[in-house]
Amino acid sequence: MTLPPSGPFLKWAGGKRKVVSALLPHLPPSFRTYHEPFVGGGALFFALAAPRLRPFQHAILSDANLRLVRTWQAVRDDVESVIARLEVHASSHSRDHFLAVRKSAPDGSPDPADVAAWLIYLNKTAFNGLYRVNRRGVFNVPFGRYANPTICNSGLLQAVSRTLDGVEVRHAPFEATLDLAEAGDVVYFDPPYVPRSATSSFTSYTEGCFGPEDQVRLRDVALALADRGVRVVLSNHDTPGVRDLYRPPFSLFRVEVARFINSQGDRRGTVPELVIVAG
Ligand SMILES: C[S@@+](CC[C@H](N)C(=O)[O-])C[C@H]1O[C@@H](n2cnc3c(N)ncnc32)[C@H](O)[C@@H]1O
Repeated sequence: MTLPPSGPFLKWAGGKRKVVSALLPHLPPSFRTYHEPFVGGGALFFALAAPRLRPFQHAILSDANLRLVRTWQAVRDDVESVIARLEVHASSHSRDHFLAVRKSAPDGSPDPADVAAWLIYLNKTAFNGLYRVNRRGVFNVPFGRYANPTICNSGLLQAVSRTLDGVEVRHAPFEATLDLAEAGDVVYFDPPYVPRSATSSFTSYTEGCFGPEDQVRLRDVALALADRGVRVVLSNHDTPGVRDLYRPPFSLFRVEVARFINSQGDRRGTVPELVIVAG
């Protein structure tokens, strides 16, 4: 029996599926540890984890969004409980059910499978599959009106669970990578991007925002890692501000990426992004 392939199980704003082929040439063919400190939906991790590629021996994934991290951990450690809870959501799915789940706060549950089912259900049924919270951490994406959303893809979740066997998933700010990465490791930083214009920012993956000082701190962390012999690859928008931030020793590569380009998420276009490399 052929097993279904593993791959991203969440749709995440800024997801890197379309950029993976532009990132891969900047990674060494084999190395010890892969670090992805803004993991989100983990598109690059899943591309690298494919058996035919798998250049790393060990992987450490992290994110500042605790609900997201508990979701990854539950899929890794207890996938059948996540699937059972998602099947209950799937059989009750309606606009009213969505609104009731959206209003419920999963954080108090001691069982990470409850948090995972809450997040995956909302991700599959909310408008555009976005995860967005207000400053109080309340999920605020409207109902998605999909005719027949796939709420529980059990084959994919089981495959992801096998891929995550032995992978560390941590709730941590990106700076924690400084304590973990060693010479010869690879770090891929995919932060909330510098906005392309004053009105286009999307920085609400967590209750906090990712502002200009965070972008500078990230650049400094990247420099410190590269100095110690870590290969660092970053993504960001191609704007004059980002080019100014990442001067040599960083090398910049421009890529055009197909994206939804307005806040309603219904107009497509290409957006220039940078792949930024050091170390
Ligand atoms: C652009 S998304 C990553 C998308 C991901 N590469 C993918 O393919 O789906 C940015 C992620 O950074 C996380 N984040 C925001 N601020 C952070 C911080 N200070 N430290 C670590 N993670 C942070 C967000 O929760 C979000 O998941």
